[in-house]
Amino acid sequence: MARTLKQHLKTIDKELASLILKISDSSNTISKELPNRMGKSDTKNVYGETQLIADKWADEFLIDEFKKTGIVKSVVSEERSEVVKLNKKGIFNVTLDPLDGSSNIESNNMVGTIIGIYEKDLPTQGKHQIAALYVLYGPTTTLVYTAGNGVHEFVRAEKAFLLKKENIKLPEPGILYGIGGLRKDWLPLFKKYIKELEAQGYKLRYGGSFVGDVNQILHYGGIFAYPSLTTKPDGKLRLLVESNPISFIIKQAGGASTNGKCSILEIKPENITQRVPTYIGNKNLIEKLKKLL
Ligand code: F6P
Repeated sequence: MARTLKQHLKTIDKELASLILKISDSSNTISKELPNRMGKSDTKNVYGETQLIADKWADEFLIDEFKKTGIVKSVVSEERSEVVKLNKKGIFNVTLDPLDGSSNIESNNMVGTIIGIYEKDLPTQGKHQIAALYVLYGPTTTLVYTAGNGVHEFVRAEKAFLLKKENIKLPEPGILYGIGGLRKDWLPLFKKYIKELEAQGYKLRYGGSFVGDVNQILHYGGIFAYPSLTTKPDGKLRLLVESNPISFIIKQAGGASTNGKCSILEIKPENITQRVPTYIGNKNLIEKLKKLL
């Protein structure tokens, strides 16, 4: 039988392993609860986006679970405008996107949970993450994590997450591209770059959920971007809660990330709600793009 997540985590720090396990258990509750949390709430988040009932519930639920562990010091969540202080004696600082791509819930498409884990206080550069993971609530619920020891994927079975693939590396050459934002708003050089990829036979796959779209790149190789737009120079994705954890995972899988100038993991955050143009994928594709931009 395949190894469980719990068994796989035996090689990493005990407390970090217990936090990852806690998140994995919580994600199981989230996937079961989603059918009971449909519809919009009457509030907006700090970015002016209408919150869904599921967004708010998952945020409160996960932060409560973190609090119970006693080892989480603070949390930066996409649904909150300030750092949530949990336990002075805590060891870990966590970034949280409780339900990434939640606008996909209405049409029953991909959504996920994204987590970054640090010992350093937040906000800090993504390169200081000691672990990152995402859970994808798709046809099956999968969990992908790194603790700086490669990238490993697990699938939820009845009682536990079971190892699906260990030490995942982005396939070379990649075959997919997925780009957010209106094409008419992409910058001219970026349009040119994508045209070249299309001419080389790269195929478009875009689902509107960062976790889902990146998971495709992880398995098939290629590039995902929510680029700088003429209308929104910083793009859409949030540096702390979205782009940093995913950049760490992709780097551990042999890929790379950039904001057009440097690795996303090197960016010094100015605030916790900062957005960042995000380009992620196979190293050679990111290098070529960086040169062009
Ligand atoms: O930031 C939230 C998010 O839903 C991401 O998961 C996704 O990549 C992006 O927004 C989708 O944006 P759009 O609806 O503009 O394609």
